[in-house]
Amino acid sequence: MPSLPSPSHKERISAPSKPTPTFSPDTVHVVYVLGGPGAGKGTQCANLVRDYGFKHLSAGDLLRAEQDRKDSEFGGMIKEYIADGKIVPMEVTVQLLENAIQAKLDEGEGQVGGKGSRFLIDGFPRKMDQALHFESSVCPSQFTLFFDCPEEEMQKRLLHRGETSGRSDDNAESIKKRFKTFVETSMPVVEYFEKEGKVVRVEATESPERIYEVVKGRMGERGFEMIGK
Ligand code: C5P
Ligand code: MG
Repeated sequence: MPSLPSPSHKERISAPSKPTPTFSPDTVHVVYVLGGPGAGKGTQCANLVRDYGFKHLSAGDLLRAEQDRKDSEFGGMIKEYIADGKIVPMEVTVQLLENAIQAKLDEGEGQVGGKGSRFLIDGFPRKMDQALHFESSVCPSQFTLFFDCPEEEMQKRLLHRGETSGRSDDNAESIKKRFKTFVETSMPVVEYFEKEGKVVRVEATESPERIYEVVKGRMGERGFEMIGK
């Protein structure tokens, strides 16, 4: 059997080929929404869904649903990570998001006129590996909407929310761990995208209404028009 030709020098040093993203950013417009726990991501997402025709996907909600799904092989693991305020191994979260986007597209949801479809991905990416994996294998994002809020204010809001949210991690101990993870693990993601000019930073201490006014202005600057306006 003839031996295979040895790879040329050029081939040997080239980077391994990257996977092609499942969805094209020309037709699937992804906006990430980040901010510490209690920064108001969910509240502002609801406004954007109503006015801009976004489909809202919350990474935390998808993880909680998977945790509670009977027969999930990941349920126990997710539960431990969430209670500890740690970031769940990215393969699980990225796959849940890809499935959720596909399901919405299959249902014909998220389409905005002839402008493709819009997805807000709330609470993601919270760690560099999630960001890089999603961008290269699922869909490159348009930008990240980052809600900047002091820790004291977030803690106040979370303890208040914890009175009614029923969330196992809205207690003082888990909140502390979630802050630590946010600063150490998630802020580097914001800084990474900021260097690429892909972060819209919004101060998030004022009332939800005032904050949304700012958000709307910034969406317009990035080429996102309201629907039906
Ligand atoms: O965004 P939310 O506060 O609902 O997230 C709850 C928890 O889910 C996080 O503290 C973390 O344990 C997990 N999570 C994750 N990766 C994400 C989003 C959430 O591991 N991208
Ligand atoms: Mg949330």
